[in-house]
Amino acid sequence: MAKFSIAWMPGDGIGNDVMEATRIVLDTLKLDAEYVPCDIGWDFWCKEGNPLPERSVKVLNSTTCGLFGAITSKPQDEAKEELAPELRGKGLVYFSPIVKLRQMFNLHTNMRPCRSYEGNPLNYRGTRLANPESKDVMIDQVVFRENTEGSYGGVEFHPLPESVYTALCANPKMKPWKDKGLDNVALSTRIVSIQGCTSICRQAFEFARKSGRKRVTLVEKPNVLRETGGLMTRVFKKMAKEYEGIWADEANIDAICMWMFKNPQDYSVIVAENMFGDIVSDLCAGLVGGLGFAPSANLGDKYAVFEPTHGSAPKYAGQYKVNPHAMLLTAKMMLDWLGDGNGAALGHGQAGGAAEKQMAQRLEAAVARVIKEGKVKTYDMGGKNTTIEVAKEVARYI
Ligand code: NAI
Ligand code: MG
Repeated sequence: MAKFSIAWMPGDGIGNDVMEATRIVLDTLKLDAEYVPCDIGWDFWCKEGNPLPERSVKVLNSTTCGLFGAITSKPQDEAKEELAPELRGKGLVYFSPIVKLRQMFNLHTNMRPCRSYEGNPLNYRGTRLANPESKDVMIDQVVFRENTEGSYGGVEFHPLPESVYTALCANPKMKPWKDKGLDNVALSTRIVSIQGCTSICRQAFEFARKSGRKRVTLVEKPNVLRETGGLMTRVFKKMAKEYEGIWADEANIDAICMWMFKNPQDYSVIVAENMFGDIVSDLCAGLVGGLGFAPSANLGDKYAVFEPTHGSAPKYAGQYKVNPHAMLLTAKMMLDWLGDGNGAALGHGQAGGAAEKQMAQRLEAAVARVIKEGKVKTYDMGGKNTTIEVAKEVARYI
C-alpha cells in the first residue's frame, strides 16, 4: 500500500493542463502516493446536476489530502441553461463545489504565499519615483484568509423572505428600501464568528512566530463594516498582545491596495476574512508575476486541499499554454504538509517526514532554477513553451 492517498481533482479548464504537468513532477520525485481520481466541477453539474457528486465526497473522506486544479463557476441562470435537458425543472441549484468543499471539510484556513523568484521577467519593479533604477522588488508575503465564513458563507436571499424583510425593516436605516416589494432588493450576508476570527488570527500569528517574521497585518474595514469588521479587529488586537516582538497593525482593504502597490516589500504576513483575503491575495499574486505563480492551501483540522489561486481560465483550456508554476508550488505546499506528519494525524495514510520535506525543497529549488534560467517559459513570461515542457524542465532539475 502506498504511504499516502491523494484525491486527484483536475476539475475544469486549465485545471486539467496544470494537474497533468504536476503529475510529471510528482512522479519524478517518486512520492509514495496513490492518486485517486475524484470528480468535481462544471461537467458534473451539467451531466448529473451535482458539481460535487456523493462518490467524490467518499473519496475525500478516505484520502490523506486532496490536490485540486480549478473549477468553472457561473451565475445561477447560466447554470440552469447548461443543465442536461432531463435534469431541468427539478429545482436543482448550482453551488461552487470548491466553496462547498471548504465548508464541508471545515478547511478554515486558506494560506496563500507569494514570493518573487530571481530572474522572473514579471517581477514587480515598483513605482518609478520610488525606484528610479527599476530594480526588482523581492517580495515574500503570506496571506492567511478565513475560508469558510464572511461574505462567502452562502447565506443570501432574492427575493427576501417576508420574515427576513420584516426583521430588517425594524431598522430605520432600511427606509430607502421599505415598501418597494420583496424582490426589489437582494441580500448577501457577511457572517463572521468569534471562532472564525480567532482561528485565522491564531494561524497567522503562529506562522509568523515559527517562521521568524516580524509583522502581521490585519486587512479589514471596521470603520464601515462596524460589527463584522469590529469583531475581527478586537480579536486581532487582543491576540497580538500574546506575540511579543511581532508588529501587529491594521489596514483598511482599500488603503492596503494602494500601500501594497507602493511599498509591497514592507508587508510580510497578512490576515483577513474570506472576501478581503481573496482580494488581497490576487493583489499579492500580481506583485510576484501574476496568477501563474500563486499557490495556496486550504487547511483544516482533519483534512487539507491544495489548489493554485487561479481559476479555470476557459479561454486557454486544453491548450497547454498556461504557466504550471503556481500548481507546482501548490504541490510543494502539499509535500511540506505531508512532511510535517499531518496525514497520519488524521488517520489516513502514514506519517510523512524528512523525505517529503526534502522533496518539497527540491521541487521549489527546481522551479526557482527554471525561472532564473528563463530558457523554458510559458506565454505569460514572454515564452512559447507549453505547460508540459515547463514541467519537464522542472523535472529534469529534480
Ligand atoms: P482565472 O484565474 O481562471 O483566469 C484569469 C486570467 O489569469 C486568465 O485568463 C489568464 O490570463 C491568467 N491566468 C490564470 N491562471 C494562469 C496560469 N496558470 N498561467 C498563466 N496565466 C494565468 O480567473 P477568471 O477568468 O476570473 O475565472 C475563470 C473561471 O474560473 C470562472 O468560472 C471562475 O468562477 C473560476 N474560478 C475558479 C477558481 C477556483 O477553482 N478556485 C478561482 C477563481 C476563478
Ligand atoms: Mg480569487
